[in-house]
Amino acid sequence: MARKPMMAANWKMNKTVREAREYTAALLPRVADAEGVDVAVFTPFTSLSEVARMVEDSSVIVGAQNFYFEDSGAFTGEVSASMLQDIGAKAVIVGHSERREVFGEDDEMVARKAARAVEAGLLPVVCIGETKEERDSGGMWDKVSGQVRRVMQEMDDGVDGEKVVFAYEPIWAIGTGDTASPEDAQDAIGKIRGLLAEVRDQDFADAVRILYGGSMKPDNVADIMAQEDVDGGLVGGASLEVESFEKLISAAAEDDS
Ligand code: 13P
Repeated sequence: MARKPMMAANWKMNKTVREAREYTAALLPRVADAEGVDVAVFTPFTSLSEVARMVEDSSVIVGAQNFYFEDSGAFTGEVSASMLQDIGAKAVIVGHSERREVFGEDDEMVARKAARAVEAGLLPVVCIGETKEERDSGGMWDKVSGQVRRVMQEMDDGVDGEKVVFAYEPIWAIGTGDTASPEDAQDAIGKIRGLLAEVRDQDFADAVRILYGGSMKPDNVADIMAQEDVDGGLVGGASLEVESFEKLISAAAEDDS
């Protein structure tokens, strides 16, 4: 099954509203004819409504980097799915390793957020990945498969694979310049797809998009994209400048693996 590639910018905690506006204004004409690839931009909450307004008539998908699974109430500091949708968000990153490691989100919280996003009609980009210690000690698959299983346990049986995106982001490759080799990325992502077929079914596994994240850059994107099971990228550092993000988008559009 042909899955549409996705190239997603995760700005993390970067850019003022003015900077977000300048970036978006520069990005829009460059992606106007990016066919065959979903371009997504995950902004801080503060610039989300502005970017959503600017991309309204384009195919660019705008999303948040986090939310809480309850819809309203006494949850100081949190933002709900309906609040995100109210300002035009179409997608949300769930369980990024920085949320897990710095803010203590556990597998259960990540799973509940992923299920709630789908239920609300937001596309979740669910992040999974192992630390360097886990990889070195042979515990990579235990960690990653456990994360995936927990998410799928919470996800209703009827959910289509198109409604969910996973991002395999080995923690040791994030922001370090130390990218997983294309073979390692394929190995992990292929196994994740196999696991999804096992715990759900083949249709779901064939339809779900699985991105790679971790020091993806213009000079390594083509080799990573060329891997059969890699459906795109979730990019931090190299997405912050429009010029390099555009190169990543072009590479995803050209890939026919
Ligand atoms: P870098 O591309 O900066 O390594 O970040 C990857 C990431 O965490 C994207 O979510």
